[in-house]
Amino acid sequence: MKINSIINILANNKAQWPKLCLQVFFSLMRSITLPIFSLLLKNGIDLSLQHQFEKAVFYFILAILLQPLTSLLLMLECWVTGITTESIILPIRKRFFSKLGSAQVPYIEKQMRTGDIASRLNSDLEGLSDEFGGNMSWFIKILLQSVASAIGCLIVCWQLSLIYFFLIPITIWGMQKISVSIKKRKTAASESKGEAMNHAVDMFSNLSVIKSFHVYKEMNSRYAKAVDKVCEENIKSQQITSIINALKLFVSVVQTAVLFIFSLSFIGQGLITVGGVIAFISMSEFVREGFGLVDYFITAMRRTESYAKRLNDLDPIPLEINGSYNEQMNENEIVSLSNISFSYEENREILHNICLKIAQGQKVALVGESGSGKSTIINLICRFYTHQNGDLNIFGASSEEWNLTALRKKISIVPQEPFLFNGTITENIAYGRESVTEEEIIKAAKDVGLWTFISSLEKGIDTEVGEAGAKLSGGQRQRICIARAMIKDAPLILLDEPTSLLDVQMEVAVQTVLDQWLTDKSAIIVAHRLSTIQNVDYIYCLADGKIIEEGRPENLLMNKGYYYSMCVKQGVPIYKKTS
Ligand SMILES: Nc1ncnc2c1ncn2[C@@H]1O[C@H](COP(=O)(O)OP(=O)(O)O)[C@@H](O)[C@H]1O
Ligand SMILES: [Mg+2]
Repeated sequence: MKINSIINILANNKAQWPKLCLQVFFSLMRSITLPIFSLLLKNGIDLSLQHQFEKAVFYFILAILLQPLTSLLLMLECWVTGITTESIILPIRKRFFSKLGSAQVPYIEKQMRTGDIASRLNSDLEGLSDEFGGNMSWFIKILLQSVASAIGCLIVCWQLSLIYFFLIPITIWGMQKISVSIKKRKTAASESKGEAMNHAVDMFSNLSVIKSFHVYKEMNSRYAKAVDKVCEENIKSQQITSIINALKLFVSVVQTAVLFIFSLSFIGQGLITVGGVIAFISMSEFVREGFGLVDYFITAMRRTESYAKRLNDLDPIPLEINGSYNEQMNENEIVSLSNISFSYEENREILHNICLKIAQGQKVALVGESGSGKSTIINLICRFYTHQNGDLNIFGASSEEWNLTALRKKISIVPQEPFLFNGTITENIAYGRESVTEEEIIKAAKDVGLWTFISSLEKGIDTEVGEAGAKLSGGQRQRICIARAMIKDAPLILLDEPTSLLDVQMEVAVQTVLDQWLTDKSAIIVAHRLSTIQNVDYIYCLADGKIIEEGRPENLLMNKGYYYSMCVKQGVPIYKKTS
């Protein structure tokens, strides 16, 4: 049985070892009180049978006085266990989250699914916490109890102990053989439960699609099939459990009977006293419990190892490589791409020899059909991805030499997919910059035309976006993202189709605000509606990852090439610019 991951987790938590040792110490001390109690009882009973009542009472009083000590040790043991478990789990939680934050975007996007990450952060950590705090501590307790009681049995009568230690493994082995089929049933039930859950998640996350394609009957029957199987397997395992419980009772009675028969003969031979038999029987229960747990212990260790492994597997997550530059190196050159080639996946080049420049204060537009590589260029500038060939300089320094936190502080972005964090509207707008005043937030909300909507909400700007989630349209989300970028107001502004989800009227209004904001700013604007880039200084037209046309807007219109034909298609008023 491999337990490398458990060892790894414990090795990474050396600071918690003293607490673990303390936990084992309290457990050991409490376990020792059990055979001592039985031995005191034995002496008391034997002395009473010999009519030495005064001495017997002394032993009984000692046995009673031992109880508060046992209870105190039990309390301390549970107390330390709780603290130890949480202290082991907390750093894993934090380490795991901060690791995800500095992980390479491509690795996370390709290798890990959101559900998988969520399940590691949730179920695996919870599972590990339960195992460490519950099962493991319980095992330590039972194991120590069982060893201490076995020693107690040997002290009372080693001959009877040998017979007993021989009897238990045989009966336990028999029980385990029968319970194998329960395990199989339980696994089958868990698998079907997982399948049912998948159907339920599919159903609720895509309810409108499912309704519109009339597939809910099919979904219903798949779900019903899975839960029927869960029910069937659970009933079968319950039936086997009842048989096992009955057998267990029978076996334990037979075992006790055998012990009594041998005890009677050993009393006759003077090998054990009556008090000894009573003490032996009470201690033997703890020994049996310990033996019975061996199999359970192995299963629990396997389960713990699998939780620990899934968490340890996150250790090799490749982290972003940071350079040392944190200041702008060149006042005039903001972004320069020369002969940049890039592929997300091997053998599928997305960008081919891209050359592009943005000088200080320049606004540059990227134009092209969907899938032509516009957002990919934005991804490279933000260093979410790293190009394979060519040179990419930002603020006068090679992009690879930048400290990524410093670089990203200098960029204000409105991503193509409007993303809102868990939090209030205020928090969502203020995220980009520290110390933002409420007035600034309200002004930004007004600028993007959101104020009327926000003031209609009961909690105004303090409404949780989660709560308002259902009320927020794509366009409203997009406007919150624009307000966030405006508040951050970094030296380089990247707008990836910032108004794609707005209706034409709102787009014109927001565009006017964007135009004002962008005066004297360096910006890249990815445009879907060409009417929104009438005021830019330079346009690059992309098709299939190549720049097929570039120039000042008026020149491109005069050339009557790709950009011109796109403008004609979209009905952009050309005469104004060419005249
Ligand atoms: N994370 C990704 N992994 C693999 N391929 C991607 C990824 N993102 C985009 N692509 C591919 O790269 C190409 C360019 O995409 P993108 O830059 O988003 O285009 P645009 O923004 O111009 O619509 C598309 O063919 C798209 O399928
Ligand atoms: Mg895009």
